[in-house]
Amino acid sequence: MCGIVTAIATNNVVPVLLEGLRKLEYRGYDSAGLAVLSGSLSRLRAAGRVAELAALADARQLSANIGIAHTRWATHGVPSERNAHPHISGGLAVVHNGIIENFEAIKSSLEARGYVFESETDTEAIAHLVHSKLETHPDLFEAVRLATNELVGAYAIGVLAEADPFRAIVARRGSPLLLGIGEQGMYAASDTAALLQVTRKVVYLEDGDLAELRLDGYRVVRPDGEAVEREVHLSSLSADAVELGQFRHYMQKEIFEQPQALGNTLEMIAGGGAISPQHFGARAAEIFDGVRRVLVLACGTSYHAGLVARYWLESVAKIPTTVEIASEYRYRESVPEADTLVVVISQSGETADTLAALKHAKTLGMARTLAICNVPESAIVRESALRFITRAGPEIGVASTKAFTTQLAALALLTLALAKLNGRLPEAEEQRHLTALRHLPVAVQKVLELEPEIEKWAQRFASKEHALFLGRGRHWPIAMEGALKLKEISYIHAEAYAAGELKHGPLALVDKDMPVIAVSPADELLEKLKSNLQEVRARGGELYVFADAGSEIPESEGVHILHMPEHYGMLSPVLHVIPLQLLSYHAALVKGTDVDKPRNLAKSVTVE
Ligand code: M6R
Repeated sequence: MCGIVTAIATNNVVPVLLEGLRKLEYRGYDSAGLAVLSGSLSRLRAAGRVAELAALADARQLSANIGIAHTRWATHGVPSERNAHPHISGGLAVVHNGIIENFEAIKSSLEARGYVFESETDTEAIAHLVHSKLETHPDLFEAVRLATNELVGAYAIGVLAEADPFRAIVARRGSPLLLGIGEQGMYAASDTAALLQVTRKVVYLEDGDLAELRLDGYRVVRPDGEAVEREVHLSSLSADAVELGQFRHYMQKEIFEQPQALGNTLEMIAGGGAISPQHFGARAAEIFDGVRRVLVLACGTSYHAGLVARYWLESVAKIPTTVEIASEYRYRESVPEADTLVVVISQSGETADTLAALKHAKTLGMARTLAICNVPESAIVRESALRFITRAGPEIGVASTKAFTTQLAALALLTLALAKLNGRLPEAEEQRHLTALRHLPVAVQKVLELEPEIEKWAQRFASKEHALFLGRGRHWPIAMEGALKLKEISYIHAEAYAAGELKHGPLALVDKDMPVIAVSPADELLEKLKSNLQEVRARGGELYVFADAGSEIPESEGVHILHMPEHYGMLSPVLHVIPLQLLSYHAALVKGTDVDKPRNLAKSVTVE
């Protein structure tokens, strides 16, 4: 969701800015732009892809040592060249990620002073506001500081000024931004992937930080102007991790990376490692002590991971668990209980609603917080008392796949750690679970081998307008995840139901044109599920069943069966989501949609 790249260097920064934007494309965007200083300010904008912007830059043979660049995901105003960033005020250019909530008020007061707005964006108000500050405070850094102190909402910004050509100013509150210290200059970007081309040395800015980037270094100050030091980190990401390699799409690559991602995430129990609270941080034993309930807060796919965990936490650890959509929890009146462990799940660690829900839970007095996240220095991780970093590696495709299964692995470990602390995990049980977890990457690999058969199913699906997903128990959230994946990337309308709910309404939808996908593990609910499937067949619905070996559901006309490996017990949801990911991927391929960047969606949802 919007991406920023800023650079000042001894060489031409235009290729760096463009490559940075390409690496941020996965976040989701609908237009792109850049501004550079080379004597005077030049701005280029395109109401489309970064490739179009790059073509414009080529045609103009643009070259400069300082510049800012942006991919925009429309919030205020339609996607268009006029609304694309950078926005300009006099000789000053601004790029912005986030939403300025008081922009109408700022705009009115600036219009009263004679500023003319050319776009519908909130960002243009920032440009004019900084410009207006320069009248009384000619130092650009100070002008940006004063302007950002008046902003309400979320922002990460980059600023350039013709009159001040030897530095770029950046600032952040709520939206991510990090600095890169390179051999040939200083850089800033919305995430590390954009900067790996020039450096792995990064500095994560804190909320409220303002930084000046110069050729010979940088400085960071707080909103009151006080200087601060921020730690320099060496990113462990390699440039290869964000390359497509032999795959056609990032989503496909990420689906096939799941065995490796799970192996990395579960590394601590490889070999002889036992279940321990230590997996969640040094203070975990102390924080987990006395936990009587769990509250999971998350959005989208991460929310589905939480729903699976509820079944695990209640059945194995015997801990009452509630799972809430973060955007609902943050605004509803709830009854806080201090002995609750608040678990926030987020791939990006930037999701605005999840972050706000976490802060809300803390203000209600719930201090025992744990983040399960794929990005170590993200806002959600920093806001939580405990952390478990999934080691999925960068997830570029908008559709979350390997992040989901590694979240499930983390939640399985959490379930077992809490069960053990509460005396509910006998030694033999612990060993059984450990063996299953260690074997999980191999089990997932086997399921991936079903791809050719799933591809054939996808051919039949692609012509459908609707689909129904059914599951029961801990596989109901897997049905929900399958439906989300399908609608997200193939734009086929899909709904998921707990199979027992079928006859309470959705059965009315079933006819020969409505494919019904059933997640059918050979678990304790299989016989119940089989009856639900009969109800579908009796109404002429075509069934696509993902059945474990031993499920004994016969194939017949209108009943297609795909046999999975043997039932995998508690961890079965991890295996059963894989064919659903593959099904939506291949259905999207047949439909020819933009698999990695589905319309209207962003990878990191940093605004409400
Ligand atoms: O980064 P997060 O895990 O917090 O993101 C939450 C959702 O936006 C995300 O899972 C979304 O639903 C995915 N695009 C689904 O594939």
